[in-house]
Amino acid sequence: MSRRPLVAGNWKLHLAPSEAAALASAIRAHLDARATLDVIDVAVFPTAFAVDRVVGACAGTGLQVGTQWTSAHPSGAFTGANAATIARRMGCTWALAGHSEVRRDLRETDEQVGAAVRAALSAGLLPLLCIGETLDQRDAGQVHAVLEQQLSGALTGLTADQVATCAIAYEPVWAIGTGRTASPAEAQAAHAVVRAWLRAHYPAFVGEQVRIVYGGSVKAENTTELLQAPDIDGVLVGGASITAPSFLAIVDAAVTACAP
Ligand code: PGA
Repeated sequence: MSRRPLVAGNWKLHLAPSEAAALASAIRAHLDARATLDVIDVAVFPTAFAVDRVVGACAGTGLQVGTQWTSAHPSGAFTGANAATIARRMGCTWALAGHSEVRRDLRETDEQVGAAVRAALSAGLLPLLCIGETLDQRDAGQVHAVLEQQLSGALTGLTADQVATCAIAYEPVWAIGTGRTASPAEAQAAHAVVRAWLRAHYPAFVGEQVRIVYGGSVKAENTTELLQAPDIDGVLVGGASITAPSFLAIVDAAVTACAP
């Protein structure tokens, strides 16, 4: 791994603000004790309601906080929406965009994901763009086409510098929350498609710089092997991120995997 690894926890609709703050404090204590953040980046994505408390719990450390979903709007008459501008002012540094659960539940299109990525960048947030195929699409041999369509839909119109600021999460939909992880070879093959697409569309530094993380039933037992693949630069963890022992075991595995 030549890029600095990123381990991110997507807490989804779990953990009330007090629980989220307690988990953030436990993570923080572990990272501080081991100087983990000297070696890798760690970010957590609580519910919007918990962001304030979690930012407070992380204050003064390098443990980063992100928002799970933001609309393309900075403000205005958009009932129910979240804004990247507000997330930034609350202390977030990351914005998840295009998670498959949002694409599914809010019928979010690639164009809307792209608008959210642009809004996140304008607000000063680092987008973590999620892409990935369904099982039907994989069985139909469409993995490359789906990934390339999701990339171009979300990144069109951005400058090379802006794309270089993003991270990309390859999350095959069939692996999310199912306990069925993509094999390191399957994940590496998909990450190589993403890297090749970046290299084909932008100057060389973009393809070198952008971190591509894997998500989908990640646990400590499969982290080391996944992170040995040349194009897997980290992990995005759902279910295993909402308790300190399981998430910190993944964090520690990532540190071990990137030891020289
Ligand atoms: P999972 O979720 O680890 O529970 O599969 C990953 C994600 O949705 O980001």
